[in-house]
Amino acid sequence: MEPVEQLVRADEGLVKRAIFSDEEIFREEINRIFSRAWLFVGHESLIPNPDDYFVSRMGSDSVILTRNRQGEIQVLLNSCTHRGMKLCRYDQGNNRTFTCPYHGWSFSTDGNLVERPGELVGVPGHASHYKGDLDKKQWGLKRVAHVHNYKGAIFATWDAGAPAFEDYLGDMRYYLDSALDHRDGSPGGSIVIGGVQKWRVGSNWKMPAENFIGDLYHDISHRSVDIVGIGPSGGRGRRDAMKGRVAIAFPALGHGLLGNLPHYEEPEYQANYAADPEIEKYYRDVHQARIRNLGNQMRVRHRVGTIFPNMSFHGWQPRTITVYHPISPSEMEMWRMYLVDADAPAGVKEAARHYFLRYSGPGGMTESDDMENWTGATEASRGSIAREMYFNYQMGIGHCKPVPELRGAVVSNEFTEENARAYYRRWGQFMSGKSWDELMPTYEIKDEACLPLTGSQLP
Ligand code: FES
Ligand code: FE
Repeated sequence: MEPVEQLVRADEGLVKRAIFSDEEIFREEINRIFSRAWLFVGHESLIPNPDDYFVSRMGSDSVILTRNRQGEIQVLLNSCTHRGMKLCRYDQGNNRTFTCPYHGWSFSTDGNLVERPGELVGVPGHASHYKGDLDKKQWGLKRVAHVHNYKGAIFATWDAGAPAFEDYLGDMRYYLDSALDHRDGSPGGSIVIGGVQKWRVGSNWKMPAENFIGDLYHDISHRSVDIVGIGPSGGRGRRDAMKGRVAIAFPALGHGLLGNLPHYEEPEYQANYAADPEIEKYYRDVHQARIRNLGNQMRVRHRVGTIFPNMSFHGWQPRTITVYHPISPSEMEMWRMYLVDADAPAGVKEAARHYFLRYSGPGGMTESDDMENWTGATEASRGSIAREMYFNYQMGIGHCKPVPELRGAVVSNEFTEENARAYYRRWGQFMSGKSWDELMPTYEIKDEACLPLTGSQLP
């Protein structure tokens, strides 16, 4: 593999195309990023009851998200410890034990049965064939090192030495809150509706991550739905999209978003569902509850952002979570989950479901525009000539400022590629094999964190 500092020259806004196509780099991403970073594995509402499970992915590994009878959530490697058979071949369900279809070993998901979930509880022929010599305690399913339930979103890491999730997330949490906790404390929280959409895309997994971290520049891609006025932007298109909004990057953590700075007033209520009085009333009440509940807390509103390495989310409405699972250098599996308040009326949930289907996912009007770009860029960048070239992320270098209220954040109120530079700088740090001590910031904001400060005035 080429030296990482040649692959990513983030301060200059240059990223070598090989990182979107090279097999060896892809293998190293799995080892150096996906086996260490905190990864999103699912939402607690997918496993509401004891013994519920949901099969997810962490990098190239299949994992099972389970809830035991004590309500505890665990993440287990979906591979039998005997000879590796994929233990659970369904997407989700309810099961107290998983029995391997190959030779019949069975594993518990229930803390009542054995000390810990994932324990090996049944071995055919344990007495007769193994003569009782097999130590079942040694052969339980592999568990992740840490699991964290953040407002219903479940994150996990394989690395026992990883920092606490909330340190990994940093002050990006204010923005993730806007997606996970619609009213900042609504009863029952949020739930995923309509199942999980999963589909394969012929794109490198980083392309959507960098798109959702703050690519406001790609308005031409969605021109057709904007022109006819049926896209999420309505009839006005996206050319005024920066008005009142900012691009915020956390260069030391690799996260970023498009949204608003803290302490802005809650924006005026917009009647998005004026045609239906029930839905209209619901969202108007939510708006008031949000203003009330937020009180003097940090107020933020955001549109879209990415948490390094492979999870994005939309806050406010519509609220979604998206994950990009790496399959190969040129293929990913994209998952989308759609969130609504658990206690929302049925009509509101149904309207949200229709909204999501219209714009997002494999058949969505805007997502299909994006997928065409990601697959086209992946395909056209892997030839012997193309892969030696660099992508350009030079927009707005030197035009950003630190955000005093947010630890380690920088902001621009103009179109910028600062967020993508932050993302790839972080990618380079992980790929260089740095220790967690080196990876985690101390939050002394240094000027070079956001490059030369010749920035424009903030709103
Ligand atoms: Fe699972 Fe043999 S591979 S029991
Ligand atoms: Fe888009």
